[in-house]
Amino acid sequence: MIEVKNLTVSIEDKLVLKDVNLHIKQGETIILFGPNGSGKTSLLKTIIGIPGYRIESGRIFFNNMDITELAMDKRAKLGIGIAFQRPPAVRGVKLRDILRICIEKRGYFNEENLNELANKLNLLNFLERDINLGFSGGEIKRSELLQLLAQDPSFIMLDEPDSGVDLVNINLVGKVINELLEREKMASRRKKAGLIITHAGYILDYVNADRGYVMMNGTISCSGNPRDLLEDIRTEGFEGCVTCPR
Ligand SMILES: Nc1ncnc2c1ncn2[C@@H]1O[C@H](COP(=O)(O)OP(=O)(O)OP(=O)(O)O)[C@@H](O)[C@H]1O
Ligand SMILES: [Mg+2]
Repeated sequence: MIEVKNLTVSIEDKLVLKDVNLHIKQGETIILFGPNGSGKTSLLKTIIGIPGYRIESGRIFFNNMDITELAMDKRAKLGIGIAFQRPPAVRGVKLRDILRICIEKRGYFNEENLNELANKLNLLNFLERDINLGFSGGEIKRSELLQLLAQDPSFIMLDEPDSGVDLVNINLVGKVINELLEREKMASRRKKAGLIITHAGYILDYVNADRGYVMMNGTISCSGNPRDLLEDIRTEGFEGCVTCPR
């Protein structure tokens, strides 16, 4: 579904990604670990096409189509979605408005359907508020997921969806992520794929991910079972990932 080939990226003269290779197939969900500042968010932002992330070399393919030069809105229309780590507030646009637009694009809008989605994330009382304006950290995470539910992309990138979410809401967040990624379906029937960044790994209790990777210094340094990787990072820190034999 998504293939990143030899991707080297800079922002403001700083090299943030160095020769990154990543291949995620339809039906798969991948977890990305890595220390602060290692380039995880930069990878997601480059894949969605945020301006400013300059591709020095390498290509990005989505469903075998080269999207390296494609504008961000076109990538979103193709079915790439992202929940940002720290999204901006959008003053003057109500959460309900953006959800309505996303649902309408899919062709079967009704108000009841929108309310049902908001209820899944405990955000019914937030629909008349400007997007993310004054939302708490955990509310922003749920608002980002709600927008993805409405958009229903086929490749879903989640940048720390579990950071700052309380223990009751993490249950909702986990369920919605499973729904977005069709994790309850058999692998052969899934049409979605996902890339999830996490530090604490709470999300691993809900999403039965296929593989994990560790990003260090702008490159992917090792891969393996996500739970094993998290355990190794907990006990040995990230140093072991540099020389990891995996
Ligand atoms: N506009 C910018 N100008 C200069 N450096 C930048 C810019 N944006 C990002 N960086 C740097 O790029 C590096 C990678 O940042 P990135 O946000 O991808 O890290 P991360 O792995 O997501 O970290 P975290 O776990 O803290 O979210 C960091 O050192 C960051 O300071
Ligand atoms: Mg980040």
